[in-house]
This record gives sequence, structure tokens and C-alpha cells, in this order.
Amino acid sequence: MSIVLRGLREGDGAPLAVCWKELWDLHESWGGYTTDRDARAFDRVADRLDRDAVARRSEVAYGSHLHLVAEVDGRVVGQVEGWLDRMGVHPRTKTVCEIRSLVVRSDVRNLGVARKLLDRLALEADRAAHESCVAIAEVLEANPAMSFYEKLGFRPVAWTKRLTGTSFHEIELKLGDAPARATVRRSRAGDENAIARLEARLAERRRRGNDARYDPPQPLEAAWLGLLRDVLTTEDPLTPQPFVAATPDGNALATAQFWMQELEPPFFPQARAIASRLECFDNDEAYRTAQLLCRGLLRLARRAGASAIEFVDLPPPAARLSQALESMGIPAWSRIMQRP
Ligand SMILES: CC(C)(COP(=O)(O)OP(=O)(O)OC[C@H]1O[C@@H](n2cnc3c(N)ncnc32)[C@H](O)[C@@H]1OP(=O)(O)O)[C@@H](O)C(=O)NCCC(=O)NCCS
Repeated sequence: MSIVLRGLREGDGAPLAVCWKELWDLHESWGGYTTDRDARAFDRVADRLDRDAVARRSEVAYGSHLHLVAEVDGRVVGQVEGWLDRMGVHPRTKTVCEIRSLVVRSDVRNLGVARKLLDRLALEADRAAHESCVAIAEVLEANPAMSFYEKLGFRPVAWTKRLTGTSFHEIELKLGDAPARATVRRSRAGDENAIARLEARLAERRRRGNDARYDPPQPLEAAWLGLLRDVLTTEDPLTPQPFVAATPDGNALATAQFWMQELEPPFFPQARAIASRLECFDNDEAYRTAQLLCRGLLRLARRAGASAIEFVDLPPPAARLSQALESMGIPAWSRIMQRP
């Protein structure tokens, strides 16, 4: 048996679209996004891959995108993509290679193809980024591949919870009779001190959890506070919007960023809401306030027509912040697995 790994070539579109379909059908069965039921959706995927192949001229790396195809005995049986990104600005913060759409056809599994794909992807990522990258993959809680990643040395560093639109209202009502001591609003100038302290807490939590994607905690200096103030007062609809939940006298106790994203083919076209950088101070009132903030974001998501909201980059399930969301009835959805 010969296993060959190579860049994408014209003609790979059709066999890879079959792999994609296998992957996304499984993904959907584990609670992932709904794929487009239009029979031509995967034909369009095949066309796009073939056009892509022409542009990349069989190179594995094309800008920040890496694409590897696996052949067993001359037949295309699998693939993996990697997206390079830097999530921080600190010189010690490494480039991240986000593993996406890893799949091996079911009749050739357990032959070491995926292991080879990920090892080669790591080499190609390091070469393209000119440094040793951090590999990450988002894995749905229900996906049996979680143990596969563990076997290859990946460990969870962040968790996602997700609520579909059909449950928004139920959860909003659940917290409805809570005393509304907090106001949920867009952050504004004046919040920067509290947000900077919450950001430091978030960075500290990521460091404790060995999440190597982000910058270490920033010292609370005037320049950093000024920069933060500028970010808080920028009205750019394309960047994530920072929100806070604050006491009636204006003290922010919890913060999160919120934005909307359209799902791309082959997924069924729909908008999802994303809430990230959720953090609160460590006291009972702050956790309660974080729940009210989440409810506020649910409302925003509902009004914006989101099919679901994802709370990303959360601490482990036993952490108080995750428990606060759990007790609202927001279920666990995926984990970010990382290999340093
Ligand atoms: C996950 C997947 C890519 C693994 O592909 P594969 O080529 O069979 O994996 P490998 O043969 O390289 O396996 C490497 C090791 O992991 C183990 N392994 C593979 N799949 C496993 C699983 N589901 N659970 C536990 N261990 C697993 C293998 O036994 C092997 O262990 P060994 O080296 O000690 O023998 C494949 O099962 C697949 O395509 N699944 C459906 C799509 C999917 O879940 N993709 C990941 C999306 S995040």
C-alpha cells in the first residue's frame, strides 16, 4: 500500500467533494451545521476546488491557506486544510495553524493516513510561517475523533457552548424574573479600566490553560488603556462589538464581544452569532451579571435573525464561568484541541 501526500491538483475536485460530503454529513449527525440540501452544492464545491488548484499550481501553501491531499494506491482518499493566523501581537506569541476539514474515506481509515496528513501539515505550516506553529483543531463534543486527536498529543485549551435559535426565547424567559440590577450595553469610553482588568483575567486564564494562541497578560499601562479606549469607541460594523454588563452606577462587571457571521457553502446559508472574550470578575454578583450579559447577547442574536449563537473560547466545564452558562441551559458543543 502506498500513501502519497501532495498539493491540490486540477481533477481533485470531484473525489474531494465526495470526501467533503462524507465529512459534513457526519458533522451534521454530531450536531454540526446543516449542509445545503441542494444536490448541486457539492458540485459547486468540486468546481471551486478545481479552480483553486489552477491558481495554486499544486503548491501546498497559498498565502495563509494550506491544502494537502492524500492518495492511497493512486486514489484520492482524504485531505486536510490549514489556515495560518496570528492571534496576538506579542513577539513570543506564535503563529497558529488551524486544522480544518480533515477527513479520510471510511474504507481506508486506521492505516495512518490522517496522522501523516497532520505531521506533514505541521511541517508545511512551519515552513510557510518561518517559525514553529501551534496546531489547533475545533472538534465537536460528539465526534469520536476527539480520542484520535488526544492520541496525537492534542489537548483541549478552550471550550464552546452553542444554543440554537429555537431555544433562545426559552432561555431568555428563564432569567426573565431575575432582579435586573445590571444593564447590558455597548461598551463606551470610561469602561476601559474595567475591561483592561477583565482582559488581564482572560489572558491569565488562557495562560493557566496552556492556550498558546494569545498574548500573555498586558501590564495596565496608560498606552494600553488609551488603545483600548479607541477600540471601544470605534464604530466599525465589520469588527466584533464589545459589550458589557454594568451596575446601575456604571461599573462593568462582565464583558464579551459579539458579531454575526454568514455560513458559507456547502453549509445551508444562514447567519450565526458569535460571542467571544467572555469574562467577569470573580464574585457571585459578577457571575450573575455574566448570565444577564449572555441573555442580552441572545436577544441581539434573535433580533439579528441568527440561527444559533456560539459562546467561544470558554474555560473548562468545571470553571465557574462555564457553570454559569451551563445553569442557563446553554449546552456544550465543541473544544479547541491544541498541539504546541
Ligand atoms: C478522524 C480521522 C481523520 C482519522 O483518520 P485515520 O486515517 O483513520 O487516522 P490514523 O489511521 O492516522 O490514526 C492515527 C491513530 O489514531 C487512532 N484513531 C483513529 N481514529 C480514531 C478514533 N475515532 N478514535 C480513537 N482513536 C482513533 C488510530 O488507531 C491510530 O492510532 P495508532 O497510531 O496508535 O495506531 C477519520 O476517522 C475521519 O475521517 N473521521 C471522520 C471525519 C472527522 O471526524 N474528521 C475530524 C474533524 S475535526
